[in-house]
Amino acid sequence: MDKLIIRGQKRLKGEVTVSGAKNAALGVLPAALLLDDVCTIENVPDILDIKILKGIMESLGAGFEYIDKNTIRIDTSNVNSFIATCPDMHKLRGSYYLMGALLGRFKKAVVSFPGGCNLGVRPIDQHIKGFESLGAKVEIEHGLVKLSANKLVGTSIYLDVVSVGATINIMLAAIRAEGITTIENAAKEPHIVDIANFLNAMGANVKGAGTDIIRIRGVKNLRGDIVHSIIPDQIEAGTYMIAAAATRGDVLVKNVIPKHMESLTAKLLEMNVKVEEYDDSIRISAKDRLNKVNIKTLPYPGFPTDLQPPAAVLLLRADGTSTITEGIFENRFQYIEELKRMGASIRVEGRMAIIEGSSKLTGAPIKALDLRAGAACVIAGLIAEGETEISNVHYIDRGYENMVEKFQSLGAVITRTSD
Ligand code: UD1
Repeated sequence: MDKLIIRGQKRLKGEVTVSGAKNAALGVLPAALLLDDVCTIENVPDILDIKILKGIMESLGAGFEYIDKNTIRIDTSNVNSFIATCPDMHKLRGSYYLMGALLGRFKKAVVSFPGGCNLGVRPIDQHIKGFESLGAKVEIEHGLVKLSANKLVGTSIYLDVVSVGATINIMLAAIRAEGITTIENAAKEPHIVDIANFLNAMGANVKGAGTDIIRIRGVKNLRGDIVHSIIPDQIEAGTYMIAAAATRGDVLVKNVIPKHMESLTAKLLEMNVKVEEYDDSIRISAKDRLNKVNIKTLPYPGFPTDLQPPAAVLLLRADGTSTITEGIFENRFQYIEELKRMGASIRVEGRMAIIEGSSKLTGAPIKALDLRAGAACVIAGLIAEGETEISNVHYIDRGYENMVEKFQSLGAVITRTSD
């Protein structure tokens, strides 16, 4: 099992380039299954979740050719199976997009329940409601979701909760449905727009992605031979921005869309961090004392839940008591026990973490309990006195391309070891 060893208290300095968005790529690749043709996807992050998804899609008959490390040519003309039940399906949340994509292509799908980070109960009832509204019969048996339809017919679907996954899954299933599908109370995350752009490039008719009403006019035919470039990863960008501020560093984060970062940028400014925005980069520098702030995670454009664990580490460096209220997932504070081993003074009351600033962190052996918890552990290691040893690195590999090399290039003393 690999570990990360970090010697903390180095100010990060320099430039770092953000990779393509994990959660966009996890939707775009399955969306290619709606085609019976080839397409080229650029800026695909080289991360574990994508390798797992590639294996699952290959088991369905899709062909993958790497043009370079981040560019994939996918051939879906030989996809002949609508059954995605291999054990790897449980390893990632994004496997749920095979439901919408296979249902859209074959009018039937048999798909294992998705896995992903343990953030409490993560139901898929809104996905199911959407598929049923489009005319699919849904049976859940032995951990499998079985979907079948004679035909899919467009309709109006109101989401009871704002769900990223349900919004994208319904979009995928509705692309070839008869008539118009309207998704109301849709999620508005940047990667929903990215996936809609990819679908439209192949001839779909999706309007309103990025607002809370998405209208999809079903089409009979889609065309391949298109090239799509995945948007930059908003959460990876935010992780480096927060790490720069927490280490009182000076870092230019490149390949970002500053608009996507607004909720974080606003909090950093409120904390007294200097933020300079350019066309596709953001410079973060923090020399002075940091103010306490209160954060609440919300669907986009609110503060992203995936940046909540890294933000908690930053707040340990502020003057006074800050709070974070988790508004999306019921159980996303487990990582705090790991931070406490390093001396962090944080207590959790229901959905709120109360964070005492100016806590002195000292290096300790800690565990990455999930992907973003892992990012929080790394930032904690970067600011702690002495050596921090992080196990369960595979969680970090799921979503961060070359994290060790990227932090090393900013001057961090971080290495990876294998037992
Ligand atoms: C996606 C992201 C994840 C991110 C999250 C919120 C992927 C692969 N994962 O997860 O990184 O943290 O968005 O931005 O893109 N809910 C229901 N019923 C449903 C679906 C969701 O009650 O059918 C609830 C969830 O339990 C949660 C909230 O809605 O409380 C939002 O979840 P959702 O947006 O669906 O998150 P995911 O798609 O699982």
